[in-house]
Amino acid sequence: MPVYRQVGKIPHKRHIVFRQDNGSLYHEELFGTEGFGGISSLVYHLYPPTMVKEKGQPYSIRPEVAIEDNLQNRSYLGFDAAPENDYIKSRKVLFVNDDMHIGVASPKKSFDNYFFKNVDADEMIFVHHGSGVLKTMYGQINFEYGDYVIIPRGTVYQLEFISEDNKLLFVESFSPIETPSKYRNQYGQFLEHSPFCERDLKLPNHLETHDEKGEFLINIKKRGLIYPYIYETHPFDVVGYDGCSYPYAISIFNFEPITGRIHMPPPIHQQFQGTNFVICSFVPRMYDYHPHAIPAPYHHSNIDSDELLYYVDGDFMSRNNIQKGQITLHPAGLTHGPHPGAIERSIGKKETNELAVMIDPFKPVQITKEALNIEIKDYYKSWHYDL
Ligand SMILES: [Fe+2]
Repeated sequence: MPVYRQVGKIPHKRHIVFRQDNGSLYHEELFGTEGFGGISSLVYHLYPPTMVKEKGQPYSIRPEVAIEDNLQNRSYLGFDAAPENDYIKSRKVLFVNDDMHIGVASPKKSFDNYFFKNVDADEMIFVHHGSGVLKTMYGQINFEYGDYVIIPRGTVYQLEFISEDNKLLFVESFSPIETPSKYRNQYGQFLEHSPFCERDLKLPNHLETHDEKGEFLINIKKRGLIYPYIYETHPFDVVGYDGCSYPYAISIFNFEPITGRIHMPPPIHQQFQGTNFVICSFVPRMYDYHPHAIPAPYHHSNIDSDELLYYVDGDFMSRNNIQKGQITLHPAGLTHGPHPGAIERSIGKKETNELAVMIDPFKPVQITKEALNIEIKDYYKSWHYDL
């Protein structure tokens, strides 16, 4: 995040002597995800963050592709993905391409016996059901229903859940997940027409410095493998940091919709951007107010982008028989549009209470074996009606 902040104890100047009460030096770390040219933070540890004690055998969690090439509208029941006690095991990747992985997870247990570090990808975790705490070396973020949690790649974290009934949608992006450039000025500040702004961000707080030695397991994910690494000191041994790189969250309920007299196109719903994809929030809003407006979307050909919609809550105006947690995949190359009856049904309506997350990967996604387990058969015929 290009929002500069200072937390905890830091020296008055970077890269200078900074001693602990016992006379030893604090250990400075520059944390950034794009070399030395991207956004970064300077972090001050009690101990060197490099003290590896042991490493275990790596094992694969690489998604298995079932359908490499797809030109079929498809749909999936995200809530039918199997719940798992273990967080890593619970993450079911459904769609992959060279830019991102997209999946759902129903983790039942908090993970406090290990830490997780994804060096492949920035993560977006959308909380559909459940609440809890994200723990990192930057502090903690309380999350709840409707939150997008953004975790820069390489961030060591733990998730503590309040209950066992958790439903998450997640994106692993091989490029930084950012707020849209069109909402920010040249200095990074959100513009007046942005549907959200700095006040809506949930930043890490409650920085706790863990002065602990022992054995600390960090499961490191790289190129689809998990490498178990044992460190000698607690990874959250930070006394302070400053900079612009840290995890944050923002609630879909703080997305202020942009509306118009006639139908507004999907880009007005944009929430995040990455290389070759966008993520959008469809939120409750007043409908188009031209007296003859058709609020339902028109048929459209998204030739340059696959389109994934994840349904969260409310009636989705353009679709019939949609369930919470259901996902539709409309691949680039096929015209799609409202289900039969949806256009007539929308005329004269004043508002919608739909809540959904849209992910548009610009390159075609491949479909995994996990996705086949929760697919709704024959969805591609669901636009049929008798003429
Ligand atoms: Fe669409």
